[in-house]
Amino acid sequence: MVDKIEVARALSRALAVDLLTRIRKGAEHLKEPPVLAVVRSSGDAAASYAASREKSAREAGIRVVSREFPEGGGADAAGRFLRELSADPGIDAVLVETPLAAGIDESKLRSALDPAKDAEGLSPANYGRLFSARSWAEVEEGAFPAPPTALSIAALARACGVGIKGLSALVVGRSNSVGKPAARLLSLLDATVTLAHSKTRDLPLLCSRAELLVACVGRPECIEAAWVKKGAVVIDAGVHAAGARLVGDVQASAADRAAFMTPVPGGVGPLTTAYLLNNVLRLARGRDRSAA
Ligand SMILES: NC(=O)c1ccc[n+]([C@@H]2O[C@H](COP(=O)([O-])OP(=O)(O)OC[C@H]3O[C@@H](n4cnc5c(N)ncnc54)[C@H](OP(=O)(O)O)[C@@H]3O)[C@@H](O)[C@H]2O)c1
Repeated sequence: MVDKIEVARALSRALAVDLLTRIRKGAEHLKEPPVLAVVRSSGDAAASYAASREKSAREAGIRVVSREFPEGGGADAAGRFLRELSADPGIDAVLVETPLAAGIDESKLRSALDPAKDAEGLSPANYGRLFSARSWAEVEEGAFPAPPTALSIAALARACGVGIKGLSALVVGRSNSVGKPAARLLSLLDATVTLAHSKTRDLPLLCSRAELLVACVGRPECIEAAWVKKGAVVIDAGVHAAGARLVGDVQASAADRAAFMTPVPGGVGPLTTAYLLNNVLRLARGRDRSAA
């Protein structure tokens, strides 16, 4: 079990290091370092993740600046704030951290962000490009940003050593930022995808039939080890604090049954950060501040 998890951890690390190295080389060809603005609603709930994201950004030659939505300003003020950031020539990309303040509709807010500054690929224009892409290569090497967690999930499934073409895949969770784009990317990789959600009937049965199981549910260890098919590929995007530990959406002991299973932490997360920074580089390249 330990070996399997360590293999997956090493794979995630290797893919992330390779991508970060390519980003650093790309950033060195720009006149100025790319700048990512991270916009928070308030507080520092994800402080440890923010610290590791900033460390990776520094290593990749990307500058991160912090911004906060105007306090108590509501949806209109938040939209105006994003439009102003979009127009700021000193900023290449904008990441909007969630959860947003109560009363702010995330989809509407994301429409206020210029697609040319959309670090997460969640603005309607970039999302549309993801769903109209005809191949994985078009997304991975293409000119538009795509949701980083979904890219990380698909890249790990693609690289895990079990050919995923034609496999029956189950993605549990259908959020715009993770589950839905992950299902889209796995379909581009020729898996046959079912997208499950909170109203799905008999999740254990669906899980037991899945040759590739992706968990992006947001509920600690809600997918039981016994539901996992023997020899399945399991990609766990969940991250939850459980006392001093972090746990995923899948019980860790499912690794006993799986052929490949990503660890939490150290699986989907590090590669997600690398794909986010790759989006920032792409957006910076597309702007006039780039060197010839
Ligand atoms: N590792 C990373 O880099 C990274 C990045 C982002 C997020 N995450 C993690 O990924 C997980 C999902 O995040 P998210 O933002 O996608 O969460 P989200 O927006 O809360 O979406 C959760 C999804 O899971 C579904 N769901 C909830 N309870 C369920 C149940 N009992 N059975 C089946 N489906 C259920 C929901 O269904 P409905 O649509 O019916 O409500 C929804 O589609 C979280 O643990 C988060 O921490 C990790």
